[in-house]
Amino acid sequence: MDIVILRDSAAVAAEGARRVRTLLHKKRDAVLGLATGGTPLAMYRRLVADYEQGRVSFAKAITFNLDEYVGLGADDPQSYRYYMNRELFDKTDILHSNTHLPVCADGDDPDSVGPVYEAAIRAAGGIDLQILGIGRNGHIGFNEPTSSLRSRTRVKTLTRETLESNSRYFDDPARQPKIAITMGIATIQEAAAVLLLATGEAKAEAVQQMIEGPVSAMWPATALQLHEKATVLIDDAAASRLQ
Ligand code: F6R
Repeated sequence: MDIVILRDSAAVAAEGARRVRTLLHKKRDAVLGLATGGTPLAMYRRLVADYEQGRVSFAKAITFNLDEYVGLGADDPQSYRYYMNRELFDKTDILHSNTHLPVCADGDDPDSVGPVYEAAIRAAGGIDLQILGIGRNGHIGFNEPTSSLRSRTRVKTLTRETLESNSRYFDDPARQPKIAITMGIATIQEAAAVLLLATGEAKAEAVQQMIEGPVSAMWPATALQLHEKATVLIDDAAASRLQ
């Protein structure tokens, strides 16, 4: 695991964006694995600015997001599809047909949604760079503690802690979905490279466990210790509990 500690969240966003640009310069048709949430927002904004200034193109890129809530459509502002459209896809030259999120629509068989998504990832040639955030409980994607380290893309019930932490995005608590589809830990491990971003004091314990703790399903991000090309970009606050 490569650990890069930077001064603040702006520096993490700048470095994350630089790495995505570098990949797209080398490989215009790169397959990107993407995350939502608060952490990567500043990086996406930088990439949009880079695109506007002609420093990067997504015209041939293909994307697969980590996860999506079950029951929220693309036009629901809380869905991850809406987030991705708003923050990146609608503001760059990426082809919408090349962007993918795992969706379990009404009438879909929940058991087949995961395998179908994974087949699409394989058909695209596999993920070149998977962007990740980390939950305070060490989750990656929506792989909550106790998720099997060999898990694949599947429907998952969210823990109370994650529901609480994400409740800030929902005005009406009754509308917050309790089920999501997420790439599994084994799915994430298959990406050629992973880039995990973490900022702020609230992530310090999860970052410490991920880097210094024993590999354990209780802290799912520890699985990245076994990845050959995992890079962790953190700011001083998120690094504050490292030895
Ligand atoms: C989002 C995702 C989650 C988040 C994590 C951190 O697609 O997969 O694992 O990365 O919950 O979220 P923030 O960045 O909001 O703290």
